Amino acid sequence: MSKLLQINSSVFGDQGVSSQLANAFVQEWQTRHPGTQLVRRDLVADPVPHLDGERLGALMTAEEERSPEQQQVVAAADALIRELQEADTVVLGAPMYNFGIPSQLKSWFDMVARAGVTFRYTEAGAEGLLTGKKVYVFTSRGGLHKGESSDGITPYLQTMLGFLGLTDVEFVFAEGLAMGDEAREQGIARANARIEELLAA
Ligand SMILES: Cc1cc2nc3c(=O)[nH]c(=O)nc-3n(C[C@H](O)[C@H](O)[C@H](O)COP(=O)(O)O)c2cc1C
Repeated sequence: MSKLLQINSSVFGDQGVSSQLANAFVQEWQTRHPGTQLVRRDLVADPVPHLDGERLGALMTAEEERSPEQQQVVAAADALIRELQEADTVVLGAPMYNFGIPSQLKSWFDMVARAGVTFRYTEAGAEGLLTGKKVYVFTSRGGLHKGESSDGITPYLQTMLGFLGLTDVEFVFAEGLAMGDEAREQGIARANARIEELLAA
């Protein structure tokens, strides 16, 4: 059975444009791929704690030496990694806040990027270990940033996902959302048209 992992990260929850686009895509995906097993995570409703000294310490402590608290930290991170490892398809809702991804989504990356598990370094350089998956990113913005240096999301996600081995990534942009009604409607219509294209592919 095919598995789809959906990660939303809008502070507006299901009302966020990125969430609405991702939710619509997933709903239609399920219709077209019956039997898909969906795992859904809302990183704002159910946040992944920030990486800090204690958490990093837990992750770097040898298994047999971990305190009960450290074991809990590692178990929570392991569960997030397992969800990602098991997914065939990954859907990310990635709204732009202050030119980058939400800090909640960054915290998730900080927990799933694990040396020897989701990536490793060899003599040839870095190697991502999460291969053979397709990723769809839904990124909503108030302004227009696609292809500009102000887009701190697309290059970052391409690099971050690629580092983990997730190299097959499609981006759906909803831009100009704060630039008046017409621009907003156009931005959403463009995103919906792209969703149609991707679903038909
Ligand atoms: C805290 C905050 C910061 C934002 N920063 C930016 C920004 O840097 N650039 C931009 O174009 N839009 C920015 N916006 C507008 C959002 O990108 C826009 O509202 C988008 O719809 C957010 O996606 P969401 O609805 O899925 O949460 C910001 C919005 C908020 C609430």
